[in-house]
Amino acid sequence: MKRFDEPILVTRPYLPDLETFKAGCEEIWRNRWLTNNGPMLKRFEGRLAESLGVPESNISLFVNGTLALELGFYALGLSGAEVVTTPFTFVATSHALKRIGATPVFADVDPETLCLSPEAAEKAITPRTKAIVPVHVYGHPCDVDGFARLGEKYGVKIVYDAAHAFGAGLQSHGDMSMYSFHPTKLFHSCEGGLLVFRDESLRERLAELRNFAIKGELSCVDVGTNAKMNELQALMGLECLKAMPGILASRAEIHAAYREAFAGRADVKFLDPRSFPSSGAAGFSPNYAYCPVLFKDLETRERVYAELKEKCNVFTRRYFYPLLTDFAPYEYAKGSCPVAEDAARRVLTLPTYYGLSAADAKAIAENVLEVLDSHGVRHETI
Ligand SMILES: Cc1ncc(COP(=O)(O)O)c(C=O)c1O
Repeated sequence: MKRFDEPILVTRPYLPDLETFKAGCEEIWRNRWLTNNGPMLKRFEGRLAESLGVPESNISLFVNGTLALELGFYALGLSGAEVVTTPFTFVATSHALKRIGATPVFADVDPETLCLSPEAAEKAITPRTKAIVPVHVYGHPCDVDGFARLGEKYGVKIVYDAAHAFGAGLQSHGDMSMYSFHPTKLFHSCEGGLLVFRDESLRERLAELRNFAIKGELSCVDVGTNAKMNELQALMGLECLKAMPGILASRAEIHAAYREAFAGRADVKFLDPRSFPSSGAAGFSPNYAYCPVLFKDLETRERVYAELKEKCNVFTRRYFYPLLTDFAPYEYAKGSCPVAEDAARRVLTLPTYYGLSAADAKAIAENVLEVLDSHGVRHETI
């Protein structure tokens, strides 16, 4: 097995050229404007709108993705409502609902995409449901047409947690989508979050909410919070945005290296978003944000995870495990989503980041296969 001299982590943030970043800092120093709708933030919003092909009136930036989701849910009036969502996600999705006083109602995922299943979501709808929150897990497209039909049929909002999906072209779907710009994501602004929404009247409302809901100099119109993106974050975002074509190309190469190495192996299920029925979603183009594989069972997954760490210096991530419904705030739904529970026990995400070579990805995949072969699970089909 190949042991790497330096640890290979599951992800590594992209960093722009330091000299160019310093030049941007000099501009910030000259402006003496650090936060509160500064010129960098405005420039970043403009460039994002351009790159996403949406008007600036339909986007809003935040200090992080979690607060973007929270304020987006609040602005859509979801407080007090039931919201159907997936347990196969990061805790932020349902935390943001809980924190505005909505009740997450969990429905199961599709076994192929691991995204919320529209059929399961429909069964969970009640007269108190005001929204459905599917997640484009790993940047893979949900069945956006299925959710659009549910939105119309039941008059509920469709809000995508698109934290993983920046660069995947899915921004035209649903009433709102949230993108996380955390450094573990393929594109980042140190920390940051973006909402893209259909109803442009939300822009002003969200601008108020992210700034304590203070309006003008003398009034405060609601219980807002401090969720403003600052100028250094916006600068980082602007610099990373320039690198997006290179970032996407490097991830496509890494994904292809894993895909080829696992081809023909019945004991490894490597998720390829191009093969999903939902990949026909308007605008979709894979961003290869993550490289998830599924193994036969929990024991096999744990063995691969441990041996890669101990013998190869490779740090993978059990993402998402445990499932949300195993965590204290959501235990009320434990056991209600068997497909998601099964996936959480078998999934592992492999290292993927700008700068990881295709040769290293191939070596990591070969290490995975060696672990499987050494334990004689090779011919068991999953
Ligand atoms: C699916 C999902 N939703 C929400 C978030 C929250 O985003 P942030 O870390 O920017 O607050 C994350 C990321 O960490 C995520 O993976």
